Amino acid sequence: MKERTVTVYRTAKKTVDEFTVPYNERTTILDALEYIRLQKDPDLMYRQSCHHGSCGTCGMAVNGEFVLSCIKRLADIPEDQAVRIEPLPTMHQIGDLAFDPAEFFNEFPDDIEYKRVSEVNTDAPVPRDMEHYERFESCIECGLCVTSCPVTEDWMGPAALASIHRMIEKNPDDADTWLDRAADKRGVERCTKDFSCSRVCPTGVAPGKRITLLGSMIKKREKARASEEKPE
Ligand code: SF4
Ligand code: FES
Repeated sequence: MKERTVTVYRTAKKTVDEFTVPYNERTTILDALEYIRLQKDPDLMYRQSCHHGSCGTCGMAVNGEFVLSCIKRLADIPEDQAVRIEPLPTMHQIGDLAFDPAEFFNEFPDDIEYKRVSEVNTDAPVPRDMEHYERFESCIECGLCVTSCPVTEDWMGPAALASIHRMIEKNPDDADTWLDRAADKRGVERCTKDFSCSRVCPTGVAPGKRITLLGSMIKKREKARASEEKPE
């Protein structure tokens, strides 16, 4: 195996520590961190769970790029470039590369539908209490979109707005209720159309596009309401 030097930002100590890690073409950033924690520094903190891009816990900044560390491979970074691993900057950091996602999760509407019908067997019954475990469609709630977004205050954020758009797609009859939420002053109108959210999203949710679509729906509804109110 080849070796590579990586630097890791340590939130608690406010230091940047350097480690040498072995790697091959399959070694991910998360593998490198596991190696460091097991072999060199058991105090290193980061979040992880699935190791295959589906739990959304392992987001971090690698050379300034917001990525899932279980997917980003060391070999994807040219050998002449340093490897700098840092926490996601706008999240509430609780230690080294680990962040507390509570604030981010709280932006999702409480009554969002988490269940989806099986694509394979549409008649399959959904197990009891499944809604406590299922994630919302293809969004893995990693927060990369929120971190990449230039709007940082008074803002529901791209993931929560994308979830509202998906609810309208699934339940068009309830569109008015969901559009009211998207039209909140912390909603669509705060978007600056930067689209970095769509660029970083690892699962193709395309929040930027969904926010734009919500904006068009809101405008269309306003127009329709205004023409209804016009005197004959
Ligand atoms: S929309 Fe994409 S980037 Fe944002 S939280 Fe969901 S999966 Fe992550
Ligand atoms: S460890 Fe689950 S997405 Fe990376």
